[in-house]
Amino acid sequence: MRTQVVIIGAGPAGLMLGKLLELSGIDNIILERRSAEYVLGRIRAGVLEQGAIDLLDAAGVGARMHREGLMHTGVELSFDGELHRIDFGDRKVMVYGQTEVTRDLMEARGAQTIYGAEDVAVYDCNDDRARVAYRHEGAAHEIECDFIAGCDGFHGVSRATVQPSDITTYERVYPFGWLGVLVEQPPVADELVYAHHERGFALCSMRSRTRSRYYVQVPITEKVEDWSDDRFWDELRARLNPDTAAALKTGPSIEKSIAPLRSFVAEPLRHGRLFLAGDAAHIVPPTGAKGLNLAMHDVKTLAEALTGFYRQGSEAGIDGYSERALKRIWLAERFSWWMTSLLHTFPETGTFGRRIQRAEFDYLTHSEVAQRSFAENYCGLSD
Ligand code: APR
Ligand code: PHB
Repeated sequence: MRTQVVIIGAGPAGLMLGKLLELSGIDNIILERRSAEYVLGRIRAGVLEQGAIDLLDAAGVGARMHREGLMHTGVELSFDGELHRIDFGDRKVMVYGQTEVTRDLMEARGAQTIYGAEDVAVYDCNDDRARVAYRHEGAAHEIECDFIAGCDGFHGVSRATVQPSDITTYERVYPFGWLGVLVEQPPVADELVYAHHERGFALCSMRSRTRSRYYVQVPITEKVEDWSDDRFWDELRARLNPDTAAALKTGPSIEKSIAPLRSFVAEPLRHGRLFLAGDAAHIVPPTGAKGLNLAMHDVKTLAEALTGFYRQGSEAGIDGYSERALKRIWLAERFSWWMTSLLHTFPETGTFGRRIQRAEFDYLTHSEVAQRSFAENYCGLSD
């Protein structure tokens, strides 16, 4: 089999890249290890920056997002029970679940996606033709291609294919995770509420006007089976300001899980004919809601580069992909690390660390300049 671009991974990055390449007339095949149902079953954040909103529209898949998404022009920040709203000014974000973005991209897919592709392996990335081998329904297959896009997430095969001497990684693993609960109840507030409390971080988010998503910071050693719904709701209330806690509408959890937090970047993002994009290239702590938005920016940059190669025979885009994507990646890593450092408890930083967090919160909530900077980073930096 032969195609121009093989995309490994049918998450948001792989599906969006596939759609953009389709629109540019570039043949591509997506190889996805899991089933479509499994991919859709993943519960992920869904706060879309303007850039991601525009990209969904450009890919022709934005209609349902505009119909069902919730437009937000600010967030609430709470520090030890004190609540402040940060207004985004003329900026905004769209709350629209990543599962729905993935579903819309799946439905719009015109080219081939092979679900259940096992043992995907990458060969000859540095020759004039790359090869990808995989097994499907018991049979071995091989695809020859010009380029491979590694959109296979943090634990994928693409980045692991690269010789360790050819790649540099930067990482910070946080000593805590997020215990998340999905509940069929209206959100506690019209906008997201990010809370810092001496007991730990909490977040009140949503998926729609009838389905809410809540998180509390827990030690990474915690086990989800040790957290009954009642224990979760009590802990969440304890970390929120009194009015928000009193307004909380609880109910039986329809999903409950603990996710670790890490900051991670791999450099460079190009290795011969292999390009890394999305979680295969970087991870951000979810505090700044940057994961999906960064993945969208990566694949927009890569699609433009590959279009320039096939349409004008120009290699400038593919040569510059890594540097251009990394500029945005590191700015998002910085903001996500800063927001995580502000809102979570870090016992190892002691009483001085907590007073610095208080000072940071006071500066942010009383400085218009600081709030404009927050809005610029949270709603998405311009390209
Ligand atoms: N072969 C084929 N497919 C693979 C392999 C493999 N060896 N390894 C992983 N995959 C698939 C996974 O099953 C998954 O569907 O690659 C896909 C990667 O998708 P994501 O993990 O969602 O990553 P990405 O598309 O980059 O989206 C980033 O998702 O994880 C969130 O917070 C993150 O919001 C961000 C977004
Ligand atoms: C979510 O709704 O899951 C969510 C929202 C904002 C974040 C992280 C997660 O910063």
